[in-house]
Amino acid sequence: VCDSGDFATIDKYKPQDATTNPSLILAASKKAEYAKLIDNAVTYGKEHADGKNIDDQVDAVLDALLVQFGKEILKIVPGKVSTEVDARFSFDTEASVKKALRIIEEAGIEKDRILIKIASTYEGIKAAHILQSKYDINTNLTLMFSPVQAIAAAEAGAFLISPFVGRILDWYKATHKKEYKKEEDPGVKSVVEIYNYYKKFGYKTIVMGASFRNVGEITELAGCDYLTISPNLLEEMYNSKDEVPQKLNASDATKLDIEKKSYLH
Ligand code: E4P
Repeated sequence: VCDSGDFATIDKYKPQDATTNPSLILAASKKAEYAKLIDNAVTYGKEHADGKNIDDQVDAVLDALLVQFGKEILKIVPGKVSTEVDARFSFDTEASVKKALRIIEEAGIEKDRILIKIASTYEGIKAAHILQSKYDINTNLTLMFSPVQAIAAAEAGAFLISPFVGRILDWYKATHKKEYKKEEDPGVKSVVEIYNYYKKFGYKTIVMGASFRNVGEITELAGCDYLTISPNLLEEMYNSKDEVPQKLNASDATKLDIEKKSYLH
């Protein structure tokens, strides 16, 4: 899976699926060749805003941008594209559901090709539960930093989760201020723990490692259901001749002694 908002770059790697987020789309939108698309999104957004005030218009333009870039990416990838409900709604279940429905409606394409990315807060996980169970809309729970969030997401019936690696390492480096050994990468450890828990208890929710900082983290997680990788790390992997042995194995996980937990009430 390619993690980018830049559809021309995504095309270079021919991934099965793609993931975006508002910052990736913002970064891509600075490319001169996308100026026309941005103009169209701004015009569409202004015309379709819920109200005339500036907040409504900004909101509608942002939605239009997500949709326009998402649709371009869908012309390139044969699978699914994840598009994110922005972080302002992370603590509001109702607003997240409303926003997701609006994105799906505006996209006007088969909903099974879109994953709505929602923050893995308690409210976001509740929103995912509503979208999955009431509207049959598939969700990708993002901003996930712990097994606790992952367990709640599986209980909510999320289609897919994106446990982060690099941002955990960023935090670790900033707070511990000491050298860490590659095999002690706390972001990698978190994803392995989540993967083993899901496989042990037979959850169908797909585990997609995300937020990578180096190729070493990616190879440590080889064998995970999916990994979403930025173009620069994909390029590094393409240029490397190294074999990547599969390290995660679902049937090994079922043999582990893990306690079942529940967090979604
Ligand atoms: C993908 O789903 C995430 O949005 C992305 O991997 C986050 O990466 P970052 O931590 O580099 O922002």
